Amino acid sequence: MSSRIHIFDTTLRDGEQSPGASLNVPEKIEIARQLERLGVDIIEAGFPISSPGDFHAVEEVSRVVQNAVVCGLTRAREKDIDVAADALKSARRPRIHTGLGVSDNHLRYKLKMTREEALAMGVAAVKHARKYVDDVEYFLEDSGRADIDYLCLVVERVIEAGATVINVPDTTGYALPHEFAGRIRAIMNRVPNVDKAIISVHCHDDLGLAVANSIECVLAGARQVECTVNGIGERAGNTSLEEIVMAIKVRADLLDADTGIVTQEIYKTSRLVSNLTGILVQPNKAIVGANAFAHSSGIHQDGVLKERSTYEVIDPRDVGIHESKIVLTARSGRHALVHRIGELGYHLADDKLERVYERFLEVADRKKTVYDEDLEAIVADETSAIMVSYEMQQVQVSCGDNSIPTATVVLKGPDGVVITDSDHGTGPVDAIYRAVNRIVKCRNELIEFSIQSVTEGIDALAEVTIRIRRDHDIYTGRAAHSDICVASARAYLHALNRLIERVGSTSPAEALDQV
Ligand code: KIV
Ligand code: ZN
Repeated sequence: MSSRIHIFDTTLRDGEQSPGASLNVPEKIEIARQLERLGVDIIEAGFPISSPGDFHAVEEVSRVVQNAVVCGLTRAREKDIDVAADALKSARRPRIHTGLGVSDNHLRYKLKMTREEALAMGVAAVKHARKYVDDVEYFLEDSGRADIDYLCLVVERVIEAGATVINVPDTTGYALPHEFAGRIRAIMNRVPNVDKAIISVHCHDDLGLAVANSIECVLAGARQVECTVNGIGERAGNTSLEEIVMAIKVRADLLDADTGIVTQEIYKTSRLVSNLTGILVQPNKAIVGANAFAHSSGIHQDGVLKERSTYEVIDPRDVGIHESKIVLTARSGRHALVHRIGELGYHLADDKLERVYERFLEVADRKKTVYDEDLEAIVADETSAIMVSYEMQQVQVSCGDNSIPTATVVLKGPDGVVITDSDHGTGPVDAIYRAVNRIVKCRNELIEFSIQSVTEGIDALAEVTIRIRRDHDIYTGRAAHSDICVASARAYLHALNRLIERVGSTSPAEALDQV
């Protein structure tokens, strides 16, 4: 009988640690709901003691999730565990995820503790967490570089103390597949009470080996894999959910394992996470990249047309990618739009549907045909859960050879007052951003600007993604429009609204700041 591998999704915790990926509570809830539809077994919703926002997010996710286990991360400290237990109190199936470093490197430089002290602290943390919940996961940070005898000793002692899941992370993404799997085998063979817990792996992708390492660990006996949608996460990211799940499905012949994932929901989940975090998916990304099922060489095209399996090991429909047979036009009407949006998996409230319909008409007027990708971009734009402090009412630009790029913007502010201002810049986008800054007066630095077309063709929608930084925090904005200047203006305002939502409205003192 094949082994059931539990999928532990940490998009909302480790994934959110990607620079600029910060999500607000409604966005986290939207992702959590989609993760449930995707069928993940465990949702790590956050690190409750790290901030009031994270606490609130774990509380709210605990409230809405029906079937999956909801997990909160803690350090091996009583206070952390008390706070996590409080945030998880509404969860139907709560899990506390606590732990401590195990490598000599972490013990010496980060924790400044002896092995014995760290072991005692870990055991105490597990016992404390078990006072609140029956399901306690223990992470052994930096297991990839830890002494194997000490690693096995800690696993044995924390299981004895009541840990039900043991997380073996390759925190630094240093291990090679055969080497890391050797650690899992050693744990399976040498820890006498290992049958009392599930062994989990948590790999980082610093050497591009996170998925390979996780697969090898499944072969060695791991029964839980920790991963994120699109592989987002600290530095180079985590094991990518879609890759590990599809590897297990496609190579069930060798792995003799399966997951509970509804693979047809994969693409939709990937798009949602990319839209909300503003982290674009690289075109050649396995499973969900724009080119993952595109064949450009004549020989390959010929082969696929004769028989798909000649060059494709996955049917795109299995991950929810459908060749769009339906394109909408301005004459399609509201009913057809609602139907198509529903088929694409969006469940929108009436007011949001109305906004999407208005934008659809606007886009359909400019473009002859509206594709699924256009609809997704419109839905992402119009259903953003960000608090809107400033709303773009109009943007007008004059630029070209031998002229000074100048922009005028009309914004509606938080108090409903409509303000118009203009400025010039080195180019049209610079001019727009300067004009916006004159009104919003919110200190920030633009650190990234990217633009891509949503579909092919000269009339395609342009999707602009930008990142702005204020102090150490990064905020992402994204918007789509057939006019790249309008898309750029809206993306900037989206990021500014996100910043204002986080830090509060601009203060009078700041109004005097040079932007
Ligand atoms: O990479 C890591 O070690 C982690 C732990 C906190 C589980 O993310
Ligand atoms: Zn991690």
